[in-house]
Amino acid sequence: MNVYDSARMADVLAASGYEVVDTAEDADLVIINTCHIREKAAEKVYSELGRLRQMARDGGGDRRPPLLAVAGCVAQAEGAEMLARAPFLNVVVGPQAYHRLPELVARAERSCESVLDVDFPPDSKFDAFPDPHTGTEGAGAFLTVQEGCDRFCSFCVVPYTRGAEYSRPVTDIVREARRYALSGVREITLLGQNVNAYHGISEDGAEWRLARLIRAVAAIDGIERVRYTTSYPADHDAALVAAHGEVPELMPYLHLPVQSGSDRVLQAMNRRHRADDYRRLVDRLRAARPDLALSSDFIVGFPGETDAEFRETLRLVEDVQFAQAYSFKYSPRPGTPAAEMPQLLESVKAERLATLQELLNRQQREFNAAFVGSILPVLIDGGGRKTGQMVGRSPYMQAVHVHAPRHLKGSIIDVQIVGSGANSLAGELVGPTPNGEGFRE
Ligand code: 5AD
Ligand code: SF4
Repeated sequence: MNVYDSARMADVLAASGYEVVDTAEDADLVIINTCHIREKAAEKVYSELGRLRQMARDGGGDRRPPLLAVAGCVAQAEGAEMLARAPFLNVVVGPQAYHRLPELVARAERSCESVLDVDFPPDSKFDAFPDPHTGTEGAGAFLTVQEGCDRFCSFCVVPYTRGAEYSRPVTDIVREARRYALSGVREITLLGQNVNAYHGISEDGAEWRLARLIRAVAAIDGIERVRYTTSYPADHDAALVAAHGEVPELMPYLHLPVQSGSDRVLQAMNRRHRADDYRRLVDRLRAARPDLALSSDFIVGFPGETDAEFRETLRLVEDVQFAQAYSFKYSPRPGTPAAEMPQLLESVKAERLATLQELLNRQQREFNAAFVGSILPVLIDGGGRKTGQMVGRSPYMQAVHVHAPRHLKGSIIDVQIVGSGANSLAGELVGPTPNGEGFRE
């Protein structure tokens, strides 16, 4: 979502004459967009600020030093504290105030005072954003449909930093998706912190849930692939499960965070699902779409987690078999209930994380290796690291490296998979390419 947000900030600032440059050294304004989800992410901003301040001091001769701004959830959570720690900052802006950036930056340009805006304004920023321009160049694009969260998992800062759950109206989303399609985007990922809680109002006043929205976006000319992330298991309704079997554009890959395999821990996390609810949901999804690849998030070392409870997480991973996953050591976040609970030793967390990651990595390698010898449709997205090489995505979200001409960017082409690694596949083009010619090395 921060990628999408950064693009909207660039768009909204274009009206003030700003344009995106490649390096901070060339910029008149540097915005660091931050994440507060774990301590490690949040701390990064201060080291980055130190580096940028030094750069501003060293300066580019008689050029005016750049304005420095911090956006995102760290700005939201630490606003005033951040200004005390980094008084040289010109702008600190929270995620719900991005539409006010032109005014905030103008104020900062005029005065040497720092400008702080961490409001949750009553007007929606989405209504104030211009039509999307930045971020529409690639084969795939993100589109925020839902923001904020009302679930209050006891470890999570999102309900505090992003605020209450909000679903954008259907018409706005479909219009934005059409614009993407016209710019050449082929794959849209619908975004939300709790995306399957989506309940937007359509033009006739009806409330649409996510499955209906997916069908509407998938029906847009030029949109060949749809994905959505991130889902909360208890909000996965029957229509959404069915969509996986019925909407060909909906890709067979789902990120569905479970967090833990222990019912006691899940309850302490204030999650509204038990481990078996998750297993059953996965069964229903796989019944609808047998080749569905699953991804998940895991937290190890949540306060009070015993060895036996951790082993239940391993058991769930063995049962479900993931194509990919993210796993984290529990990180206490200020203001969240779990941060007040007695904490586990760092060494225990580290050991459990290593054990879990070993298992997840093995599953990921096995998942990828099983494709060697088969043919996959790959959406070519850009140039690879080696000359002549392009990189694309399989339906299952694997990065696929293939030797192909550049003009195939934005096309979906059949690729014979010849090799696999932990994080990607290697393949060769097969059959005719979209310009009607066969292409082989
Ligand atoms: N500590 C560790 N991981 C966390 N996540 C969220 N909050 C924390 C925390 N306090 C993880 C969850 C979530 C993902 C985005 O980040 O697994 O699904
Ligand atoms: Fe955070 Fe997701 Fe729980 Fe919402 S559902 S509180 S975003 S972990």
